[in-house]
Amino acid sequence: MSDRPMKRILVTGTAGQIGSELVMMLRDMYGNDNVVAGINRSPPSDKVRDSGPLEVININNKRDLYDLVDKYDIDTIYNMAAILSAVGEKKPMLAWDVNMNGFHNILECAREKELVRVLNPSSIAAFGPETPRDNTPQETVLKPRTMYGVTKVAGELLGDYYFRRFGVDVRGLRYPGIISSETLPGGGTTDYAVAIYYEAIQNKKYECFVKEDTILPMMYMPDALKALIDLAKAPLEDLVHHCDFNVGSMSFSVKELADAIRVHIPELEVTYEPDFRQEIADSWPMSIDDTAAREEWGWSPSHDITSMTKDMIEKLSKTLL
Ligand code: SER
Repeated sequence: MSDRPMKRILVTGTAGQIGSELVMMLRDMYGNDNVVAGINRSPPSDKVRDSGPLEVININNKRDLYDLVDKYDIDTIYNMAAILSAVGEKKPMLAWDVNMNGFHNILECAREKELVRVLNPSSIAAFGPETPRDNTPQETVLKPRTMYGVTKVAGELLGDYYFRRFGVDVRGLRYPGIISSETLPGGGTTDYAVAIYYEAIQNKKYECFVKEDTILPMMYMPDALKALIDLAKAPLEDLVHHCDFNVGSMSFSVKELADAIRVHIPELEVTYEPDFRQEIADSWPMSIDDTAAREEWGWSPSHDITSMTKDMIEKLSKTLL
C-alpha cells in the first residue's frame, strides 16, 4: 500500500509551532487544495487560513476524523497535534488522551481506510535520566519521567506495531527542541530557546526558566521540516526503523545561545530563575547519535547556531520591530 503516491494530505495541529509551517510547505509541494489544515482549540495563522482548506478536527473524535478523511479523500496524515512536556505535567490526563488516544484513532483510520502513510513525530522526551546523555544512541534506555515522554515512547511502539502487524506505513522521528520565528511553541520545556530571541529583540533582557549551563539538542525549523518530509518520502524498503529515528542538529547551553545572540544584540542581559522545567531538561539528552537516520534516509541538517541566529534575528526584527 505504501508505494502509491501521496495525493491528499491532512495535517493536524496546524495552529502549532511546527504544523503551521509544515502545512505551508506541503501546500507548496502538493498544491494548496490537496493539503487540509486541521485545527482544534487554537486559531490558525492568516496564511494557513487563507491559502487552502481548513477544518476543525478533534482527533479524539473518531467519527469526525473518519468523516474528514472521507470528505477530502485523504491518503496521508501528518499528526502534529500534541500536548507538550510542560503543559503535559500540568494536565497529564489530557496529554495521554490527545497524544495516545488521538494517535490511536489516526492509526485505526489508516488501517481501516488503507491510507498510504502516517507521520507522527516523537521527541527527545522519549528518553529519561537513565539514558546516556552524550551522543544518545538510537537503541537505548527509554524510561521518560514526563507524561509527554511516556506517550511518545508508547506512540513509537504503537506505530511500529501497526506497521508490523497491519502493514500501516507509519513513520516518526525524535525531534529535539525546535527553534522558529513564525509561530511560538506551546507549552514545552525547550520553549526558552525561542523566547530568548523574542525578548532579546523586544526588551534586550530575558529571564530564563532553566540554568545557564543547561545543554539540550536543538534544531532550526527549516531542518525540522526537511527531516519530516524527507522521512515521509524515503522508499519503504530502505527503512529498518520506522517510528523512532533519532535526529540531531546542534547542541548548546543557554549561555552559548545568549552569546550567539549578543553578536547581534550586545546589550542582551539574561537572568536565571529555574522552575519545574529544569528537572525535565536535566532528564533529556545533551546530544544525539543520528546515524540510523543518516544511513536509512539520508538525514543531514543545514543550520548551526550561527546561521540560525542570524536568520532568526533578521526575520523577527522585521515582524517585531
Ligand atoms: N519541545 C518539546 C518540549 O519541550 C520536546 O519535544 O516539550
